[in-house]
Amino acid sequence: MNEPTNESLSEKLAVDEIAVGKKYETTFLNNPVRESGYRFRATHLDGRRAPKVVLSDDIRIVPGKPCLVSVTEIQKPGRNDRGAIIVELLKVLDFKLEGVYLDPVISRKLQILLDSGLNILLDGPQGCGKTVLARSIAQALGMEFVFFNCGAVIDPADFLATIQIRASSSGSPVTDFVKTDVLIALEDALKHPSRRYLVFLDEFNRCQESARNALMPALDSTRKVYHPIENRFVPVGDNVQFIAAVNRGSEFSATFGIDAAQLDRFAPLQMDYLPPLEEIKLLGRKHPELSKSIIQIVVAIANRLRTMQELSAGLSVRATDEVCVYLKHPLLENEQVHHLDEILKSSFCGRYNGRWNDSSSDAGMAWSVIKNALKDVSKLKIGE
Ligand SMILES: Nc1ncnc2c1ncn2[C@@H]1O[C@H](COP(=O)(O)OP(=O)(O)OP(=O)(O)O)[C@@H](O)[C@H]1O
Ligand SMILES: [Mg+2]
Repeated sequence: MNEPTNESLSEKLAVDEIAVGKKYETTFLNNPVRESGYRFRATHLDGRRAPKVVLSDDIRIVPGKPCLVSVTEIQKPGRNDRGAIIVELLKVLDFKLEGVYLDPVISRKLQILLDSGLNILLDGPQGCGKTVLARSIAQALGMEFVFFNCGAVIDPADFLATIQIRASSSGSPVTDFVKTDVLIALEDALKHPSRRYLVFLDEFNRCQESARNALMPALDSTRKVYHPIENRFVPVGDNVQFIAAVNRGSEFSATFGIDAAQLDRFAPLQMDYLPPLEEIKLLGRKHPELSKSIIQIVVAIANRLRTMQELSAGLSVRATDEVCVYLKHPLLENEQVHHLDEILKSSFCGRYNGRWNDSSSDAGMAWSVIKNALKDVSKLKIGE
């Protein structure tokens, strides 16, 4: 749970409202004041600002994850500028991801995997929320987020450093190694054991298998990587969590299968598009200018296309979002339904192979589904 930023919503608690034994929900972060003897600190209790810093040293606490706690001691209750509220952990609660819909069963599995530190492989169609999910996990758990796109990796060393050639003052070329964000994070993680790092390997299936092999020792129990600049193996700290994303089954030009040994180093989690009702809610929140009925039509048509086995690619939430961007623009105001066919022709059909007017192509097939659906929008049922 994110701590409230709006103080007017979270009026400050008074010291005399707090008593030993009272229970509260709170979210801890690592305590930067190490000498205090308490590893974790929080600033809010039940969403209201606490009158003193809230401290606990229970190692079961996961920074960023909401907890149920009970007050055990109030130190220096009479002082405004000092003291602390010491609490004991009763229970770690389910974490909440802001703005991201996640299937409840997947959410449970994800929490278990994150608790155990296993590498996670998010497997799902394009635009189903893999990247936003990884980002919001890092935010919810107070982790440093490191985004790395594997699509550009050709050589094993590319994960950790890139080679740049420049001219020197003498005119002869000089080769520089530039660390990637992954290498910088792995080094930082060793220097800062109290911080946690989430390394997100996006499009993990789009790099050469031989290059991916370079990461294998980092992902198994060996937990080390070869440092291409220092010419030695360096350990991967326990405070580093890897999450990779793959996008299988879609028509990417440069897809490489992931071999069994590589796959085996991850706990796979299958994701899918959000259920239509959740997508309508999401788009409604993002585009409050639009009526619910027009969003329902857009999502129902997207859903028809997504469930068609004949179409080789998925239809991302970016596509439905893009349609909403068109629909709410003042240029199209009041004529939304009239323009919908043209918008869907580009935003939906344009994402498939071929052209909308070539009925033998995926785009043409999608267009005939859209045309049929638009003939009688009243028949478009959500959940279809
Ligand atoms: N489950 C979801 N919850 C919230 N937003 C979502 C969800 N799925 C998709 N979106 C929206 O769709 C957009 C695309 O999502 P995202 O980039 O995370 O997809 P992806 O699965 O990583 O796609 P790709 O396979 O192309 O990398 C996001 O910006 C977000 O607004
Ligand atoms: Mg992505």
